[in-house]
Amino acid sequence: MDLTKFIEDEADKFISAGKNIKDPRFFDLDFVPDSIYLRPEAEDLIEAIAFYIGSSLRPHLNIQGGKGAGKTVTTKYVLNTILKSQMNKGNIKEDECKVFYVSCRDYPTSQKIYAYVTGEKWGDPFLVDKFLEEMNSYKYSFLILDEADFLRDHNIIFTTTRETRTFLITIAQNVNFFDSLDPATQSSFLPRHVSFRPYHSEELFIIMKDRAEKGLHKFTLSIIEKMAKEIAENHFGDARVAIRSLMYMGDNWMEDYIPFAIKKAAQSIIFDSVRKLRDRELALLSLIPPKEIKTAELFREFLRRFPKYNNRMTKPTFFSMLNYLQAQGLILTMKGRGRGGSACRLVVDPLLVSKVIKEREAEIVDSHEGS
Ligand SMILES: Nc1ncnc2c1ncn2[C@@H]1O[C@H](COP(=O)(O)OP(=O)(O)OP(=O)(O)O)[C@@H](O)[C@H]1O
Ligand SMILES: [Mg+2]
Repeated sequence: MDLTKFIEDEADKFISAGKNIKDPRFFDLDFVPDSIYLRPEAEDLIEAIAFYIGSSLRPHLNIQGGKGAGKTVTTKYVLNTILKSQMNKGNIKEDECKVFYVSCRDYPTSQKIYAYVTGEKWGDPFLVDKFLEEMNSYKYSFLILDEADFLRDHNIIFTTTRETRTFLITIAQNVNFFDSLDPATQSSFLPRHVSFRPYHSEELFIIMKDRAEKGLHKFTLSIIEKMAKEIAENHFGDARVAIRSLMYMGDNWMEDYIPFAIKKAAQSIIFDSVRKLRDRELALLSLIPPKEIKTAELFREFLRRFPKYNNRMTKPTFFSMLNYLQAQGLILTMKGRGRGGSACRLVVDPLLVSKVIKEREAEIVDSHEGS
């Protein structure tokens, strides 16, 4: 293949993708738009939250679903909308309610969350008391523990449900998240369980059409319909891939472009997931080959290659890291068969992983040079 021509064609595609964007905010995956598609399961959220506001009783929520199932956006949107409308009606005063949103990826221990919520220093001997005081200083308070799969201990759940008046919402990808809590925490929490199944193609179509109308200059509905079908069937109905793929259609909107746009969108999502990994997860990922490797061997190799993690790396922590990498769609783990024990393998392009590692190394060098 003529390399110059290839690079030229690729560059053209991306330049045309940029030209067609009217409002880039609608392609930022963390952005909460003014209106969303309300999936039917949101009804359970509305009911539980309204019940709390009406009665002060707390039917806490545990929301579970795969990547891009709309867990974060739906929870934030529903809660904000209910609170705003209740304030407008004068049923709630602005200073008597507060929403605390925590990404457990960023704050993976109870102590870190207490410190984050109170604004106090980690290690403060009165941290828990201060946390309780903060939570109980509002008539209505909500604690959203998003990406709860990352929590390394569950004290925050026990403390919040047992000793505050706060309504707790946990959001996790792992179906077994609630089962992983100890019995005392489970019975203190006793949430209503809401499961967000993957989006159907009709639902993706609604979400994509809305984003296209708000964020793009030019698009074709019949093509969006085909894209939605393909993403529902082959990408677990992941709304992130759906939204990004609109961008990669460029300003051509020809049917032939669909496979390219979806492939690029899926790759960019994977790239983002790898980029968001913490150093030790990235280090672990770098050791997982496309060919099966036994997890016991991987654990030994990890400790040998990265001794700096030795003192904190227990087997359960190691396996929770593997679970997370699997939940992100980066690896596949296989349960122990026969005497061999469990195994795993990389399911994304190894070049992509090494690209992120190089980026990360460059960041470290930069920050050292800058300091
Ligand atoms: N019902 C919807 N209406 C409008 N946009 C949506 C809807 N569901 C998802 N999206 C958009 O799709 C993207 C992914 O959604 P979101 O982040 O809520 O998924 P998630 O289930 O929290 O995924 P993860 O498990 O990766 O955190 C976001 O940009 C979000 O705004
Ligand atoms: Mg989320």
